[in-house]
Amino acid sequence: MNPDEQKHEKLQAVVDSVDKSQLSSIKTVVSGIVNTINDPGATVKDLQDIIEIDPPLTAKVLRIANSAYYSSPNQISEIRQALVWIGTDAIRELALSQKVCEIFQKDEVIHGYSRTMLWKHSVAVALLAKMIFRREFGQKGEDIYAAGLMHDIGIIVEDQFLQNDFKHILSKTKGEKKNLSKAEYEVLGYTHTDVAREVTNRWNFPQELVVSIGYHHRPNNTTQGFLRFGSTLYLADCLCQMTKIGYADAPFHDKAAFEQCLKNGSIRISQRRLVPEIATFCSLG
Ligand SMILES: [Fe+2]
Ligand SMILES: [Fe+2]
Repeated sequence: MNPDEQKHEKLQAVVDSVDKSQLSSIKTVVSGIVNTINDPGATVKDLQDIIEIDPPLTAKVLRIANSAYYSSPNQISEIRQALVWIGTDAIRELALSQKVCEIFQKDEVIHGYSRTMLWKHSVAVALLAKMIFRREFGQKGEDIYAAGLMHDIGIIVEDQFLQNDFKHILSKTKGEKKNLSKAEYEVLGYTHTDVAREVTNRWNFPQELVVSIGYHHRPNNTTQGFLRFGSTLYLADCLCQMTKIGYADAPFHDKAAFEQCLKNGSIRISQRRLVPEIATFCSLG
């Protein structure tokens, strides 16, 4: 087996683990979800409000909604649409069976990373991406929100299923001052974007999610039909990292790619205007 085949096999083994087990959520987030779920008067909107702040649970809901069992006529990329399609009883069951993160219950910070910081980053990117879609394109932005929330799901996979390698990777990002993807490639031969692309593809997510999440650090690789989606995600990710909202996996971003994304999406956002707003809005800054 050549080195490329070996890497591919290792990547597939990780994706298989995610398939067999489930991604865990942060304990405090799940407590809030359980309270809402146990309220007999809770509406779909209440469930949406609480589920759409949790990347693993959102991924689970979209995975189920896009599965053969629920056989939706169209692929679903919006959380609300997925919830309506599955129905409240099934959502209650899903949420109540959600696994809680054991490793980070104490929210240990390892070389500048913690699950809570990653969670803050994910919610901030989702909100900012949605704001860009609303302001620049006059769209509701529910689908780009889901992409933003789940874009770093590959990091959650590594944190949960490859703990020793992940700690080694994190030590390289701090010690040698490099982006997470570079350190991942050196240690694993693949990155969290490769993991996310494989996982979301296997779960039959719509291609705009697979492609934008799967190339969120290499927006130039985004295919033509998804340029606006991919560019918005890249810009939102970079802007949140520049402003240090939560965990930053790519503090050394590519300035040329940033400019290209502004052009690709015909986006006129200014960091000065948007980021303070999002920081206040999220109260995460
Ligand atoms: Fe990332
Ligand atoms: Fe990110």
